[in-house]
Amino acid sequence: MTATTLNTTKSTEIFTAAQGLMPGGVSSPVRAFKSVGGQPIVFDRVNGAYIWDVDGNKYIDYVGTWGPAICGHAHPDVISALKTTLDNGTSFGAPCAQENLLAEMVISAVPSIEMVRFVNSGTEACMSVLRLMRAFTGRDKIIKFEGCYHGHADMFLVKAGSGVATLGLPDSPGVPKTTTANTLTAPYNDLEAVKKLFEENPEQIAGVILEPVVGNSGFLPPDAGFLEGLRVLTEDNGALLVFDEVMTGFRIAYGGAQAKFNVTPDLTTLGKVIGGGLPVGAYGGRKDIMSMVAPAGPMYQAGTLSGNPLAMTAGIKTLEILNREGQYEYLEKVTSKLIAGLLDVAKETGHAACGGSISGMFGFFFTEGPVHNFDDAKKSDTAKFGKFHRGMLEHGVYLAPSQFEAGFTSLSHTDVEIDKTIDAAKKVMSSLES
Ligand SMILES: Cc1ncc(COP(=O)(O)O)c(C=O)c1O
Repeated sequence: MTATTLNTTKSTEIFTAAQGLMPGGVSSPVRAFKSVGGQPIVFDRVNGAYIWDVDGNKYIDYVGTWGPAICGHAHPDVISALKTTLDNGTSFGAPCAQENLLAEMVISAVPSIEMVRFVNSGTEACMSVLRLMRAFTGRDKIIKFEGCYHGHADMFLVKAGSGVATLGLPDSPGVPKTTTANTLTAPYNDLEAVKKLFEENPEQIAGVILEPVVGNSGFLPPDAGFLEGLRVLTEDNGALLVFDEVMTGFRIAYGGAQAKFNVTPDLTTLGKVIGGGLPVGAYGGRKDIMSMVAPAGPMYQAGTLSGNPLAMTAGIKTLEILNREGQYEYLEKVTSKLIAGLLDVAKETGHAACGGSISGMFGFFFTEGPVHNFDDAKKSDTAKFGKFHRGMLEHGVYLAPSQFEAGFTSLSHTDVEIDKTIDAAKKVMSSLES
């Protein structure tokens, strides 16, 4: 490696101590760098397109706190609005006016959403929407796709792999087989497999849930006709179509992937961007379905901190910024330049690679491709990705520490950061064996 070796003395010290305090030293698993190897970095501060670690190293950030930082970290408008709200306290556990404002913004932006319920995370949004799918249809089974992540609730932790896929075997100890027995899975982009599941389980399937653009198998867009086909299949079978837009909502487009691809699901989950960096999730959709949620209807779901004024304020300001003229065109421009540059570098340096981007979301795989589903994605050279990841860190670029995570840009990423990143990739890829 030609770059300076990072000084990560303080990171190492803090992470070593953390390992005795928290499982694996982290509050969420991917942060432990297990899939790329090497020492995780402990961070200190973020601003714009940059993140600093506790040893003072500065990185161009393509994780963006896993998606929320779409306006750039610590955007001055968001921080200033938060300071004003903070002066009135942090949480009321009661209605606040900011909830109405964020709800109105979400409803007017996202085609499927006529009514919305705020929660505190994407996981909570997805587990609640699942209960609603079942409550509304009176059916228990659901279809999810291999490689799609819908948070860590039991029902979604089904092994996304070939043989066991449709058997509903749980992915984690502690998840009872009975809980996942009603979770059927199909390969992403495979309409025939979904059709077959509907035929094999007549009038038993409550609905189909998916990431309309997958970010949890790496970046994986839907094939032409896939989303439209699911819309028809669900309607024909009296089932609901649910888009998990926790990652894609307000990122792929202001109205999410459903606006971009012009396919309207019955229900949608949101998170990440709508919290502007604070813990928020939401689920929403058709009024007749949402009217089943307590206290309007009988389906129970609640939350102590749900809709708190601080989180709502960060969401409102973030959406206000995103709704300004030209923001998504800008994200498209910088991100497509980045991915084109990375793929060119891979080609020049003799590495098999494929990838793509939409708006401010991107990904690439160390495999020839094409990648249509998780099995294709798993053909990637993950050992090479680990070395690439480390090399990029050494050159001041922070990528998600897994081959199977999408990357994110922000409105603060400019040509300067993109050019530096491509230049770093050239140095790192040249040093890797092809
Ligand atoms: C598509 C999708 N759904 C749900 C979740 C879970 O959200 P959270 O981590 O906020 O619980 C994630 C998290 O990455 C996600 O990407």
